[in-house]
Amino acid sequence: MTRDLFGNDITDAEGVDLRDRWEIRPGDCLATLRELEDDSVDAVVTDPPYGLGKPPPIADLMRAWCDDADHDHLAGSGGFMGRKWDAMVPHPRIWRECVRVLKPGGHLVVFAGQRTADLMGVALRFGGAEIRDQLQWLTYSGFPKALDVSKAIDAAAGAEREVVGRYQPPNGKPWNLRNDTSTPGNGGTMGKFGARSGGMDITAPATPEAAQWEGWHTALKPCAEPAWLARKPLGGTVAATVLEHGTGALNIDATRYAYGDPAWPGPQERHADIGRGKSTLLRLGPIQAAQMADGGRWPSNVYYCPKASRSEREAGLAEAGIEPVAGFDAVGRAEGSAGLDNPRAGAGRAAATVRNSHPTVKPIALMSWLVRLVTPPGGLVVDPFAGSGTTGIAAASQGFRFIGCELDERFVRIARARIDWHTKGFRDEAMRGGSQDVADLPLFGGGS
Ligand SMILES: C[S@@+](CC[C@H](N)C(=O)[O-])C[C@H]1O[C@@H](n2cnc3c(N)ncnc32)[C@H](O)[C@@H]1O
Repeated sequence: MTRDLFGNDITDAEGVDLRDRWEIRPGDCLATLRELEDDSVDAVVTDPPYGLGKPPPIADLMRAWCDDADHDHLAGSGGFMGRKWDAMVPHPRIWRECVRVLKPGGHLVVFAGQRTADLMGVALRFGGAEIRDQLQWLTYSGFPKALDVSKAIDAAAGAEREVVGRYQPPNGKPWNLRNDTSTPGNGGTMGKFGARSGGMDITAPATPEAAQWEGWHTALKPCAEPAWLARKPLGGTVAATVLEHGTGALNIDATRYAYGDPAWPGPQERHADIGRGKSTLLRLGPIQAAQMADGGRWPSNVYYCPKASRSEREAGLAEAGIEPVAGFDAVGRAEGSAGLDNPRAGAGRAAATVRNSHPTVKPIALMSWLVRLVTPPGGLVVDPFAGSGTTGIAAASQGFRFIGCELDERFVRIARARIDWHTKGFRDEAMRGGSQDVADLPLFGGGS
C-alpha cells in the first residue's frame, strides 16, 4: 500500500500508485473536456490565457457570450508577449464544459490577469460556476511598466533633457543593462536609466510643464496575480454533497500556513500569545480557537511565494532530451529587440538557451497549495490549459490523479517530462525518508 502526505492510501483498485495516474492530452481542451463524463472530476485548477490583447468592444463581447457565439474575431492582436493564445480569456463554453465534468460542489481555481479578471469572472459565471472568493498570489517582484509623464511631455515638445547625474546601484553591483528598455524620450520608467550604452543617467525636466509633472507615472508595480475560487453548484447541503461526492468544501487543515511561513505575509504573532487564560479561550469562537491549532494558521485568500526559479522550470528537461532553444525563441521576440530586453519578457529572456520555453510558468509550491485546498484525497484534478505542466506536477506528486490539456506540441513534451521527473524525484526523496511536504523538497527550491 502507498500512502500520500496525509496518510491516505493512494493505490487504486488495480494496485496502481495514483502518482502514475496522470496524463497530458494534446490538442484543444474543449475536445478533451467533451470526452469526459458528467460529474467525474473533483477539481479544476488552471492558469488559462489572461486575454491581454487589445480589449475587445465589451458590448459585442457580452452579446457574443449571451448568444454562445464565437468571440475570436473580437480579439485584438496578441496577448502576453504577443502570444496569440493569450489574446482572449477562454470562452464561457469551455467553463461550461468544466462545470459539467465537475462533481457537484467541485471547485475551480482559475488564475486571471489583474486587468482582465473581470472578464474571466464573467466568463466563469456564464459557464455556470459560482464565484466564491478571489485569491491573490503575492510575488512582490513584478516590474513596473509605466509611462513617465514628465519625459513624455518633454518628448512631445521635442525638448532635450539635461543629464544631471547617474543612478548608483544600491548593492554596488553593476546594473543589468539588458533591463534598460529606454530609448531617449520614450517615457518608460526604466527610461530614466538612459540609453542602453549610456547606463543610468538621471535627467532633469526640460520644460516647465515637464517639471510640473515630474514624479507622475501611469502604473503601479504589479506584485500580485488574482485567481478566482469558484464552485459548481452543490447537490443539496454541503454535508450531503461532501458525503455523496467528496466535493463542496475546502481542505483547510491540509493548507494551513506553518507559523513563520512567509506564504502568510501578515502579522506573525500567534493568537495564543495574546493571552491564553481560560476566559480568553472562552471568548474566542471556534474559528479563532482553530487558528491556535498546532497545525498552523488558518489559510487565507493570499499566498506569497516567489516566481518559479530557472532551476525549477528546467528540472528534468535535459534528462528527457528536450532540446534547448535560444532565450529569445522562448519569449517569441527577435534577438536584440527592445521587447526581449524588457524585464517583463518572461522566462528565459536573459538566458542564452532554455529548455522550458514556456513564458508563464507558475511555481510548484503555489500550485501544490491550491491543489491541496480544493481536491479530496486521491481525487481527479483537470487543468484545461496545462502549459509546461506545473499543475500536473503539483497534483501527481501529492497523490492526486491528473488530466492536463495543451495545444502546443512542444509544451506537451515539456509538461510530460517535468511531471515524470518530479513525480519520480518525489518518490525517491520520500523513500529516503526525506521531507513529506512537496513544497519543501529540494527539487523545488534554489535556482536563480
Ligand atoms: C498560461 S499558460 C499555462 C502555464 C502553466 N501554468 C505552467 O506553469 O506552465 C496557458 C497554456 O494554455 C494553452 N492553451 C491555450 N488555449 C488552449 C486550448 N484551447 N486548449 C488547450 N490548451 C490551450 C497555451 O498553449 C498555454 O501553454
